[in-house]
Amino acid sequence: MAESGAAVQKERGAVSTRHGIVVLDFGGQYTQLIARRIREQQVFSAVLPCTAALDEIRAQEPVGIVLSGGPSSVYDGDAPVCDPRVLDLGVPVLGICYGMQWLTHTLGGKVERADRREYGPAELGIQADDSRLFTGLAGPLKVWESHGDHVVELPAGFHVTGRTENAVAAVEDSKRKFYGVEFHPEVNHTERGVEVLQNFTFAICGAQRNWNRAGFIAETVEGIARQTQGARAICALSGGVDSTVAAVLVHRAMGDRLTNVFVDTGLLRRNEFHDTLEMLRERLGLNVIGVDASERFLGKLEGVTDPEQKRKIIGNEFIAVFAEEERKIVGGAQGGLPVKFLVQGTLYPDVIESVSVKGPSAVIKSHHNVGGLPKDMPFGLIEPLRDLFKDEVRQIGRELGLPNEILVKQPFPGPGLAVRLLGDITSEKLETLRGADAVVVDEIRRAGLYERTWQAFAVLLPVRSVGVMGDGRTYGHTIAVRVVESQDAMTADWARLPMEVLEKISVRIVNEVPGVNRVVYDISSKPPSTIEWE
Ligand code: XMP
Repeated sequence: MAESGAAVQKERGAVSTRHGIVVLDFGGQYTQLIARRIREQQVFSAVLPCTAALDEIRAQEPVGIVLSGGPSSVYDGDAPVCDPRVLDLGVPVLGICYGMQWLTHTLGGKVERADRREYGPAELGIQADDSRLFTGLAGPLKVWESHGDHVVELPAGFHVTGRTENAVAAVEDSKRKFYGVEFHPEVNHTERGVEVLQNFTFAICGAQRNWNRAGFIAETVEGIARQTQGARAICALSGGVDSTVAAVLVHRAMGDRLTNVFVDTGLLRRNEFHDTLEMLRERLGLNVIGVDASERFLGKLEGVTDPEQKRKIIGNEFIAVFAEEERKIVGGAQGGLPVKFLVQGTLYPDVIESVSVKGPSAVIKSHHNVGGLPKDMPFGLIEPLRDLFKDEVRQIGRELGLPNEILVKQPFPGPGLAVRLLGDITSEKLETLRGADAVVVDEIRRAGLYERTWQAFAVLLPVRSVGVMGDGRTYGHTIAVRVVESQDAMTADWARLPMEVLEKISVRIVNEVPGVNRVVYDISSKPPSTIEWE
């Protein structure tokens, strides 16, 4: 099938999200990275939960399958499993860590709890000269391990191709094209790990390098155009990278049959509503309805101090506003075409955080993008970025010609300044926070740090303290400055800003923002803190 898949691609000559590598997720922390490393080879790769139905896997027409790592032991009562028939699809399979254990266990081998667990670096000795997985590689290689169990008996047809000091580290059955590695070739700490994945992807699976940005755009636009003929679509734009890239892609396919809605919650940064609206309309040519709903939001939030309560109110109000706009658009007479689709800028990390590997009980977090909009909206979803990571979305945006300012924009939470203004929310306090926030962002930009930090913002604390300004005593607000570095917001560290930058931020806030007489810097990492204060 690998060969025939490749032949089909050649014939089509097109860039394709088919005939790639499907990664089945057993809950490992590096699963996303595996797919990414493969896409870096210009081969499409999507992650599916290990519970994916066989038909869903088949629909991708994969030329190979990777079984990811995971935290479980195959003997755990609730150990994640996938449909064993994936081993009958006739395509090569590479099991990584837990994936290797599941593969060998399922095929009749034996896995045991190791006396000595292996976490972190280990040395891999390569034992078979003819191993296709290790073609061009000679041991010893430094590899990254993270497992408690290991394989002690191989299934029929398998032989050992690599060992670390304590365990069998690589096995294969080259006839059936089944491969397993105990270590993680996808992480940077594994020496020549990329070559291991390349050997699997090209030499073993016969994948073609046919996935790139321009091709992704062409294929996505073509697909959406086909799917949405004779219909309209709506999109909730936030002005952030994800929803904007999604809207621009869909706009290419549908033109003004796509209507975007951008809501001013009254909780945006200074000038954000006006500037963003202008950019979306003037520079990107999108058809955008701007809705000023700030009074509604602030009215509903009056007197509310509980963080979760604030989030709930904002979420519900957003849905109510969007639903009203949706009804107007549906009722509008644009060529009499029905509104059939809803566009969302959902990214891969949003999807995976909302999908469980073990069924609904283990869902970690329902992300607002995926779970938030009303269920009774009778629309098909268009989520063109569903398989991508943030930086891949930025690259797609660049290829689409989006202005740099939007591509490098730092994330901003849906509930906006409400989660950065502790205590009850008033227009005056919002003004104070906006003023301080503008200074922080401005100084971070001036210092050339905007693109090197994940988020930089101000938080208005519900405490007052005594100060002295001029000859008088003050009793004013405190601003906390939060600047963090992060890869994916799952973990974050506070930025070690140069003292001069901190000093400038502090001096300017106190001088320029009325009512503030004290500035503190937040030196907490995540975990145990979170990035936002509420
Ligand atoms: P925390 O505070 O959980 O935030 O460390 C992690 C990242 O998510 C952003 N964030 C949100 N984004 N809607 C969003 O679109 C939300 O409700 C929300 N809450 C937090 C936060 O800014 C950070 O980047």
